[in-house]
This record gives sequence, C-alpha cells and structure tokens, in this order.
Amino acid sequence: MCGIVGYVGDKKSLEVLVGGLRRLEYRGYDSAGVAVIDDHGELGVAKKSGKLVKLTDELAAHPIGDGRAGIGHTRWATHGGPTDVNAHPHLGDDGKLALIHNGIIENFSELKAELLAEGYSFTSETDTEVAAALLGREYRATGDLRAAFQSTVGRLDGAFTLLALHSDEPNLVVGARRNSPLVIGIGDGENFLGSDVAAFVQYTRTAMAVGQDQIVAITPESVTVTDFAGAPVEMETFQVEWDAAAADKGGWSSFMAKEVAEQPDAVANTLRGRIVGDAVVVPELTAFGDEVLAGIRRIVIIACGTAAYAGMTAQYAIEKWARVPVTIELSHEFRYREPVITDDTLVISISQSGETMDTLMAVKYAREAGARVISICNTQGATIPRESDAVVYTHAGPEVAVASTKAFVAQITALYLFGLHLARVRGTLSAAEQAVQVAELIAVPAKIATVLESSASIAQLAHWMADTRSVLFLGRNVGFPIAMEGALKLKELAYIHAEGFAAGELKHGPIALIEPGQPVFVVVPSPRGSASLHPKVVSNIQEIRARGARVIAIAEQGDAAVLPFADEVVHIPLAAPLFEPLLAVIPLQIFAMELSIAKGLDVDQPRNLAKSVTVE
Ligand code: M6R
Repeated sequence: MCGIVGYVGDKKSLEVLVGGLRRLEYRGYDSAGVAVIDDHGELGVAKKSGKLVKLTDELAAHPIGDGRAGIGHTRWATHGGPTDVNAHPHLGDDGKLALIHNGIIENFSELKAELLAEGYSFTSETDTEVAAALLGREYRATGDLRAAFQSTVGRLDGAFTLLALHSDEPNLVVGARRNSPLVIGIGDGENFLGSDVAAFVQYTRTAMAVGQDQIVAITPESVTVTDFAGAPVEMETFQVEWDAAAADKGGWSSFMAKEVAEQPDAVANTLRGRIVGDAVVVPELTAFGDEVLAGIRRIVIIACGTAAYAGMTAQYAIEKWARVPVTIELSHEFRYREPVITDDTLVISISQSGETMDTLMAVKYAREAGARVISICNTQGATIPRESDAVVYTHAGPEVAVASTKAFVAQITALYLFGLHLARVRGTLSAAEQAVQVAELIAVPAKIATVLESSASIAQLAHWMADTRSVLFLGRNVGFPIAMEGALKLKELAYIHAEGFAAGELKHGPIALIEPGQPVFVVVPSPRGSASLHPKVVSNIQEIRARGARVIAIAEQGDAAVLPFADEVVHIPLAAPLFEPLLAVIPLQIFAMELSIAKGLDVDQPRNLAKSVTVE
C-alpha cells in the first residue's frame, strides 16, 4: 500500500521519482503525485488520481520544473476517496513545503481541530494534509526542516512513513517512520529513500533500513539517522540480493506469469546453503540456538492470506517430523483474543513483504508476551524480520504481482526446512528418515518444472470457463490448504465466487451448493499415502459427480481411479504426500491467472488489492 520515493542528487529528480513509482506500482494504489524543487529553488507539484500514466500525462501537459531533490508517492486511499485533491503530496508553509505519507495518523482529528482553531484551512479529506500543515507551522517557528520534522512526528499517533522537503532547503529530503516501512539507498553523490528497495535498485544496491521511530535526513553527500528525540542512530548497510532486471517483466506478458514460471528457482534458491549432506542445517536457526529449539513445547504460526495457507500446509509436516503441536492463527485475530503465550512457545510469522501490519502487530504482541519469534520473510530490510528474534529468508526474488505465487512455494519450502532442522535438533527423525525427506525436497524444483509444462491445457480450460460464476475447491489433509489457496487466487484474480473446503466436510453442509454444471476442483491425495485418504476423496468425487458437478481433478500421474469420475484431470508428478502441495498448487495458480486473462482483467494489479497491506 502506498509507494514512497525520495531523491537528492545530480540526476533529474522527476525521472528517478517516476521510475521509482513505476517499480512500486505493484504495492497497489489509486493515485500518484510528485513534488520537485527545481534549479531556481521553486517547489513544483503534480498529482492525479488513477494510474501512473495519468500523472505522466499531467506532467507532459503541465510541466513542472525539474531539479536535484524530490519526493514521489502512489496513494492507496484510506482517509478520503481517490481524487486529485486527496492525492499526495500535500503542501504546507504557503506552498513552500511538500509532504507525502503512507499509513494512518490516528489523532488527525484532534490535530486538525487545533489547526482549524488557529485559522488553518484544508482542501482535502486526508490525514496527510493535517500533518503537512503541522509541519508548516513548525517550520515557521524553527526555520529548520529537520527540527520542524522532529517536533511534528512527535505529535503524531498511528502508523506512518513521511517524507518532506522545503524549497528553502533545496538539497534536503527528510523522512520518518513508525510502523510503516522506509529504506535508504546509498549512492555516490546522491541518496534515495523508498518504501522498499525496488524504488531505487536501478541506481544502487547498497541500502539501510530505517528503524522504528527514527528520522532520516538525506542530502547528496550525507545520510543522517536519529531517533524521534534527536539522538544519533548507528546504521548498518546491506546489499540488495537482486538487481533491477529481476523486478522487470523480462518479456513475460505479466509479472504473475513470470513469477509462476520462476517457482522452480524460488524453491531451489530457498534450499541453497541449508542442506548439509543428507540433513537440513539452517544457519539462521543454528545461530538462534539448538537448546532453545529443543525446549519448545508449542508452535504458533501467524500470517495472513496466502502466507497463512503456507503455514497451514507446513503444520502437517512440522508436527509429523518434530512432534511439536502447531497451531495456525490469522495475525489479525491472534492478538485480539488474548492468546496463551508462554516462554516455551515459539511463534513463527510468515510474510512475503515483511510489512503486513496485522502480522507485524502480532509479532510485537507475541514478543511482549514472552514468546520467541522466528520470521519467514522474502524481503530484505523489511520491518517484521527486524522485530523478530531470528529470520529465515525465502530467496524467491522480488514478487511484484499482487497475487502471491512463488513466495508461497518458497514459504512452504522454508517451513519444511525449519521442520526438518527442528526434527534433527530434537531427535524425532532418524538420519535415514531425514535423508528421505531431504531427497524429496531437492526433487521439488524439477517436479514443479514438469507441472509447468501443462500450462497450455490449463489455460485452455480456463478460457472455456470464462463465464463461470462460482468455483469450488476440495482437498484433504495437506490438500485442504491448497484448496483454500486455489479459491483465494480465483477470488482475487478473476473476481468470482470461490470457496475451498476440506473434502471430509462436504456432507456437513457444502454439498448443498452442488448443482448441475458446478465446477469443482479436487486436489486428490496420492493413492500411495500410508493412511491413504485417496479412496475417501474418490468417493467424494463420485458424490458430487452424482449431483451434476463438473469435476477437475489434480491427481498424481498414473492415478487411474479418478479417471472414470473426473471431467478433466491435471496430472502432477509422483511425490511423497507432504510434498504434493508444492506441485498441486501450480495448476490452480495458472487456472486463476488464465481465467483473469480470459475475462480481460488486470492480472498483476487486481482491483481493490494492495501487494503489501500496511494498515490494519
Ligand atoms: O506480504 P505478506 O505475505 O504478509 O502478505 C499476506 C497477504 O496479504 C498475501 O498473501 C495476500 O493474501 C496475497 N495477495 C494472496 O495472493
């Protein structure tokens, strides 16, 4: 949600800002704007509701001066609709300063009342304009942007990343963050700020992450970070693992198509360096402490959306291998029900972006309650890893499409690595059993590549079904979260009603939904499973088929039992039951993507959604 970019240096700011906003588009937005101080010290502003092209059209029609410092913003509306007036930047100090904001300022009504009483007036409905007015008032009092910014952020409650500049200090951009992301890009004679490194990775891969309640000031030659009280903060740099090309479509029709195709690499890269011989040794977990892991009595996984389904999938494996009870909680439910957390509870958060506010707040809650927190995250420099005791990064590369795909398989992979590492530490899996699981893991990338070869037939199926109004998904055991993930993908990409059910639950209600022609995807477990659920799911297929359902089975290669009852079968390679989800989810992702294309929808940026949900 909301993309933020700031720049000071020798380049023309507008090019850097618009390029940065383009790379941040994936976060989700409904308006965009820039403010630049030109070479004569004049502040120029342009902002438009709608996509970035509206802003570039506006800049072409009504050019603003370009110069060495600027800020840019893509807005996902919270306070006030997505209009030109509500778009950021907002101005203060009689139009000499501009401010952009990601987040929600919770005490904006009180602040607005205070400013109204002093004679200020407002044109927008936003909380941001109030912050801009406040900053203008402080600037008049101090004549110093850093000092004014510090006293302004001290008055704000809620979640915010703010960037501001003032035409009287043309080589300076200031920023601050609380519960919302901000990273710094370190250049040579130039510096950058961004919501994430995508904003500036084209120019530099050396970055620093601004911490909670910190203020940053960048000039072409300097970067200064303090806390909200003004005390200097020691910063560490990190190198961004990927380059600008990784965040480009690279010839694919959409980012999602590219990211679906990248899934073999996402798994392989997540495994890299974490398998030693026939055993899993995750260095980050070794550093965390074997004695701590050995003493864990309970694991609680917290996550939202697709990440939560990754957690649900891994629950089966972690419990089976490490013999520790595992529960899954949606982050936004977790902390509001006063969960029982003890110091032998391990909390695992899962987040692709590392910025999901619900998960961030749940992590903080868990740590305050005494739990240790390990995060599974795909984004370097993100907030959640820094609020955690340890982090196991997935190395899926940048995921730009709003619908999560390669991050999902990488998250399951990381969680399986965690489960096997834990099992080794706790001695719950023999070396031989561990070796079998490791071999299964190593084989996953090639098997996903095989599933991807069925893309054309799944696309055809989706195009035949372009008018479908509802699709159901059934699965059992590890196939159950995959059924829910398949339904989520379809909802967000094709905007049609979709539900995922545990197949065993069918007769307890959902079967009433079955009527002639109802499409139902069934994730069929392997007939080779030890306590095989296969015959039960085949019976479920017969039950829904008898009532007219159109069955599309995702079944293991060679599974002849489903053939007489399924209208369509998508085959996946043979894998041990716990590893089937990593294969079965691929056709469901492709189906949702292709149905979206068939309906002429925006695959990468579905309506109303943001990639990174940074407000609660
Ligand atoms: O960045 P996160 O992994 O924390 O995001 C969690 C969910 O918002 C995310 O998985 C969402 O459900 C996806 N759009 C699903 O495709």
